Amino acid sequence: MIVLGIETSCDETACALYSTARGLIGDRVLTQAIHAEYGGVVPELASRDHVRHLLPMVDGLLRDTGVVRTELGGVAYTAGPGLLGALLVGSAFGAGLAFALGVPAIGVHHMEGHVLAPMLDDASIKPPFVAMLVSGGHTMLVAVPEIGRYEVLGESLDDAVGEVFDKVAKQMGLGYPGGAALAKLAESGRAPSSSGVPPFPRPMTDRPGLEFSFSGLKTRAMQILRLVEAGDAPEQGRADVARALQEAMVDTLVIKAVRALDQVGMKNVVVAGGVGANLYLRERLSATLAQRGGHAYFPRQAFCTDNAAMIAYAGWVRLQAGQGALVSGFAARARWPLDQLSPLV
Ligand code: KG4
Ligand code: ZN
Repeated sequence: MIVLGIETSCDETACALYSTARGLIGDRVLTQAIHAEYGGVVPELASRDHVRHLLPMVDGLLRDTGVVRTELGGVAYTAGPGLLGALLVGSAFGAGLAFALGVPAIGVHHMEGHVLAPMLDDASIKPPFVAMLVSGGHTMLVAVPEIGRYEVLGESLDDAVGEVFDKVAKQMGLGYPGGAALAKLAESGRAPSSSGVPPFPRPMTDRPGLEFSFSGLKTRAMQILRLVEAGDAPEQGRADVARALQEAMVDTLVIKAVRALDQVGMKNVVVAGGVGANLYLRERLSATLAQRGGHAYFPRQAFCTDNAAMIAYAGWVRLQAGQGALVSGFAARARWPLDQLSPLV
């Protein structure tokens, strides 16, 4: 079976083909450039841009991979959570195409897509594991005893990790979203113990629980940034702050990930979402879990951020389990708690 995946939940227009026999056949992602000048995603502009690009993109993917429409055995589209107008573009398109072809369609939960993304490259990854979802909109620890069963253990009470990176990066003049640029800048930062930057807290690690709160850390980073920028070495100061912030954020995530594993009696962590591309997080979490006889799994860099390969794959998994349906309508949900999903069987 070949499944076409469609992703339009935010500001990436993406499509991909996943097949039982060949795995991932191809994928396309277009990151909308129109939002950069606003410093954040403008929902209505996102919807219109998806409308503009989705059909030609799917056509191009089919042409380049040599797959013909009639070979498709199902269509998987992101049904939520996300921006409602943006979701509607992909779900109407996906359900419409499936209806026209007479094949089943399935509405995929965007975060389930992220959780399953590492399996695109490593089929040996199997539950039970703790999923750590770290993106521009989410910071969550989720126990995954089996695919489809997601028990949220803790999440951020305020800013998401990616949001903190993006806001501080913006203040540093690194553009939007600047998480990756901030991580790059951190490489030339000096160790916090020798840089003279005042210490950053590891929020909420000194008390029990798996909740996160990053807004205080963000405010502190902004304050210290203003101080170093007014000093005599602003360039070096910015890099030092980037490094200190990255270390504090990653430390906090690693401490809570280990705590989550202990709480549910599991060994492995699957990291998902854009911040999963962060190399320092990859190193630190991998090393910490290795010492405990566990393992940290990450998607390949390109599949950390939003993409349709993960949607095609998650849709394929559910279609294989007989969960698709011939189209009688379509779903799009701006809010969709992860723990409302049904297990595979
Ligand atoms: O999952 P994603 O593509 O979109 C959603 O937010 O749903 O994640 C994007 C987030 C942005 O905040 C971006 O700055 C962050 O991931 N990001 C990074 C890195 N690459 C992307 N943050 C830290 N280090 C990186 N290397
Ligand atoms: Zn995402």
